[in-house]
Amino acid sequence: MTSQTTEKTEPTVKTLLILGASGDLTGRLLLPGLARLVAAGRTKGLRLVGAGSDPWTPGQWRERVQASFGAAAGAADASGKEALEALQKDTVYHQLDVTAPGALARLLKDAPGPVAVYFALPPRISQTACEVLRPEDVPEGTRLVMEKPFGSSEDSARSLNRTLSRLVPEEHIHRVDHFLGKATVLNILGLRFANNFLEPVWNRQHVQKVEIFFDEDLALEGRARYYDGAGALRDMIQSHLLQVMALMAIEPPATIGERDLRDAVSAVLRASSVGAPFTRTTRRARYTAGSVAGKDVPDYAREEGVDAARETETLAEIQVGIDNWRWKGVPFILRSGKALGDRRKEAVVTFLPVPHLPKGFTGVDSPNQLRIGFGPDTLEFDVDVNGPGNIFSLGRVTLEAELSASDLLPYGEVLEGVLTGDPLLSVRSDTAEDCWRIVEPVLKAWEQGKVPLEEYDAGSAGPASWPTNRAEAGQSAAAEGRHR
Ligand code: BG6
Repeated sequence: MTSQTTEKTEPTVKTLLILGASGDLTGRLLLPGLARLVAAGRTKGLRLVGAGSDPWTPGQWRERVQASFGAAAGAADASGKEALEALQKDTVYHQLDVTAPGALARLLKDAPGPVAVYFALPPRISQTACEVLRPEDVPEGTRLVMEKPFGSSEDSARSLNRTLSRLVPEEHIHRVDHFLGKATVLNILGLRFANNFLEPVWNRQHVQKVEIFFDEDLALEGRARYYDGAGALRDMIQSHLLQVMALMAIEPPATIGERDLRDAVSAVLRASSVGAPFTRTTRRARYTAGSVAGKDVPDYAREEGVDAARETETLAEIQVGIDNWRWKGVPFILRSGKALGDRRKEAVVTFLPVPHLPKGFTGVDSPNQLRIGFGPDTLEFDVDVNGPGNIFSLGRVTLEAELSASDLLPYGEVLEGVLTGDPLLSVRSDTAEDCWRIVEPVLKAWEQGKVPLEEYDAGSAGPASWPTNRAEAGQSAAAEGRHR
């Protein structure tokens, strides 16, 4: 997807320099995403350079690239295979301490430009690496690509933004949120703005609540070093789910160009906050031992690398309010957790009941729901209709559709934006700061123990005290949240 038109823009970047090339993110997500792009012929003449702190030989690096390209190579046609092989043959690896003054600058000087520098590194290292760069070390046209989390607070995000803006213009900074590269997340835009029957009811007059769930069955997966310092609110809600919420809530933009779309996202996030008291608008919990899909999952607090006293939550839920004309009083409930029994990844819009149901009807008349599934990518719409038998008895039917997926993986979509110089799918500086501003008061209240940390068994639907019927859970939150 590129900005302004559906035509693909030619890539302008000549070298993709990945810092943290020997790390997990590069092997698991970045290189497979890149491989799809290369196989699809969308990276003409690109050179891949890896740099990392590990003393890898050229052979080791090539092996990693080859292994990560495997799936795409298997599915590619002859020209795709050729393009993948050419890129692998040409790739080089440098052992490098990116925080050492001058080291990254030398690499940048030698690489054919324009160069996109992908910081696949822990945030603190990325920050230091950027601080030691001087503006004159950064050739014109360079793109800086930053992974999430972008900073660790509103202040640190602002300071990182300042550091980056000394080096390159904002349009050349790509703050990656791979959810913005997910086809179904982008489908929200088509669904909302290409169907006249939806937009007129997409507001506080007709919508009772909007829920965004990302319940994962995955547990810690050996990521204690990162995750225990983050938790579900920072890991998923502060970034990904707020972006999804913004797309669900934005005003119709004039174009889907980066300026219009990112302005709209920024406006809606600026109007968003989590209201007090946090004991009613937020919840948090941590999993104990259990089993997910027949696999034993150990108690989170006893996992290696976890400091139980930190009270890191593995399940978080917040209720966001958007103070504008369209959404005032409508709760946006964002929830994500690990080691849950059911994978539930969807946005659910619940409409208000009809103002008056003609007397004489019997049967179900529950609020209509529209559900957008984020894997599998689906669309479901509940409609109450006259049921079979007694024609005045209402029954519920669900209209279902599968949404089309992208040929590229989310990281492929995001990388395509980087390589073609289109920041559409990148988080803008003000938005990166605002996403922290929204969650910071909650993080503070949780740190101070103002909201209890509850527990749930791995493999369950969440804490026993949380209603398992999510529709009910949302309704009670909705009832609390609406002040008309
Ligand atoms: C990452 C989070 O950003 O997104 C992970 O750090 C999470 O904890 C992942 O599992 C979910 O994204 P996806 O695309 O793998 O479902």
